[in-house]
Amino acid sequence: MKPDVLVAGSLLPHVMERLYQLYALHVPNAEQPMSALLSEVGPKIRAIATGGHYPVNKMLIDACPKLEIITALSVGTDSIDVPYAKQKGVMVTNTPDVLNDDVANLAVAFVLATTRRLVEFDRYVRDGRWVSEGPAPFARSIAGRQIGIVGLGRIGSDVARKLEAFHCRLAYFGRKKKPGVTYAFYPDLIELARDSDVLIVMVPGGKGTEKLIDRRVIDALGPEGILINVSRGSVVDEPALVSALVEGRLGGAGLDVFADEPNVPAPLLKMNNVVLQPHQASATVETRRAMGDLMLANLAAHFEGKKLPSPLF
Ligand code: NAP
Ligand code: 8YV
Repeated sequence: MKPDVLVAGSLLPHVMERLYQLYALHVPNAEQPMSALLSEVGPKIRAIATGGHYPVNKMLIDACPKLEIITALSVGTDSIDVPYAKQKGVMVTNTPDVLNDDVANLAVAFVLATTRRLVEFDRYVRDGRWVSEGPAPFARSIAGRQIGIVGLGRIGSDVARKLEAFHCRLAYFGRKKKPGVTYAFYPDLIELARDSDVLIVMVPGGKGTEKLIDRRVIDALGPEGILINVSRGSVVDEPALVSALVEGRLGGAGLDVFADEPNVPAPLLKMNNVVLQPHQASATVETRRAMGDLMLANLAAHFEGKKLPSPLF
């Protein structure tokens, strides 16, 4: 008998294809939304395969009393009630490391795009302003300037290593100093923001980091400073960010994630000093395939009684 697996949120086509081959798959749809589906199949569900943003909360976990594992197609697990799953003896897996390169690359691309005013000057050329107004104003260099990383984990460390090649000075904030790391450690986030030209946010989302980047941090970064967020929208106090940009108290921003995706605050859409992406950091063909393969490998290992490739705990 194939194990019963529930799909929560949207998964990649190659993952869905494989899931249909291997498992008795239950997928909510317009005719049978999640609540109706759960009342029919909840008691036999042994695994939940989630796209990474669907709320896998107490209610959903309780609706599946035979649940053994939750596999997420993301490294972030902020949409899953992990402590509750753990308490119920339900394993959780995510997709760490395979996405580090591409996510870090987007952070580096934001650093270059904002400091070199790449999108703004592309428009300058397309709009004929080079012809009508002459050369564009100067941009800013990053060589020798300080980049502060908030959360020097797997991806944050990759971002730092890549930025070394651009001759930046690296510094970081975290809950404690990382052994063996030579970048300057700031136990105080406001001090890091004050001393940095660019601040890159790379911590996980969830309650522990909610609005960690607040008005005080933004003001410490200041009118010449740039904020880059590739982690989760919840980590930044978005209204405080928007008002700082509107009032010129912050120099610019590179944003891949937002508080209420896919909705982006209207004032940001008009700003030349802000570069926007639609939560795209891991979204390359190669990385998304690797994430999908890792998710499938976790599920297969679980049902074959083998060691899980990337258990969360
Ligand atoms: P990770 O290895 O767990 O690194 C997270 C870092 O944040 C660690 O250094 C951790 O410190 C630090 N941290 C955690 N909570 C903190 C707090 N309250 N205050 C200060 N520092 C804190 O995770 P990762 O693999 O690098 O991924 C980081 C996050 O990036 C994910 O959780 C996800 O939300 C986001 N992400 C976004 C995209 C996207 O598409 N935009 C793609 C991938 C990932 P310790 O070492 O002390 O625990
Ligand atoms: C994707 C992400 O948005 O891994 C994460 O935490 O945010 C991204 O890689 C997501 O996982 C898409 O399924």
